[in-house]
Amino acid sequence: MAKTESFRASLDKQPDEVASMFDGVAKRYDLTNTVLTGGLDRYWRWATRQALALRPGERVLDLAAGTGVSTAEFAKSGAWCVATDFSQGMLAAGRFRKLPMVAGDATALPFADGVFDAVAISYGLRNVSDPDAAMRELLRVTKPGGRLVIAEFSTPVFGPFRTIYMEYLMRALPRVARAVSSNPDAYVYLAESIRAWPNQPQLAMRIADAGWSEVKWRNLTGGIVALHRGYKLG
Ligand SMILES: C[S@@+](CC[C@H](N)C(=O)[O-])C[C@H]1O[C@@H](n2cnc3c(N)ncnc32)[C@H](O)[C@@H]1O
Repeated sequence: MAKTESFRASLDKQPDEVASMFDGVAKRYDLTNTVLTGGLDRYWRWATRQALALRPGERVLDLAAGTGVSTAEFAKSGAWCVATDFSQGMLAAGRFRKLPMVAGDATALPFADGVFDAVAISYGLRNVSDPDAAMRELLRVTKPGGRLVIAEFSTPVFGPFRTIYMEYLMRALPRVARAVSSNPDAYVYLAESIRAWPNQPQLAMRIADAGWSEVKWRNLTGGIVALHRGYKLG
């Protein structure tokens, strides 16, 4: 299938389908996010950097980094940040950022054990075919004492808002995406994958099951996004 054709992955998240879908949205990915979130994406990325508490000179992996938009935010800290993704199209669309980029699959990372002070994955874990394997891989490449931050769409905590939000997602989001995205069908997948994703305590349990310690989360924008944190035992 040509990468410019309308194409969405299915919820079983076959890696080749997911990579093709992101190749297809890559060129307008950053713009589409900013339009669909009304600019909140920038605040969420800033909050993710704060949660990582990076220090100059630290080594940081931004996994499922796409165009490197979060990686660039993290690099403002003075840490050395590498963007990894398996969509060549997404990495190519972010090449102008002049960040270190390494193509790789989240479930078999091309890095040695214990090399990163901190690891992050923003709006990526939900798209990985085996998120538990990805969290174990993140643990493997993190130094003892190192930290993890997962930024992901989550479940709004206030019931009435949750209902409106899920309606907005299912109905309005694909229509808005049609106006700005190069592949609006990908945003039907986005809405469906958010609805199917574990809520905050369920995800926290899975992170702990993958071997991370002291797992906690913080809601952003009423739980539209949650930042989960964890540590690798020293
Ligand atoms: C929604 S984008 C997030 C991009 C970026 N992190 C951000 O903050 O906007 C999800 C990314 O996950 C990547 N991805 C999904 N499954 C992956 C896997 N198994 N290995 C590496 N990257 C993966 C996709 O290629 C895509 O670029």
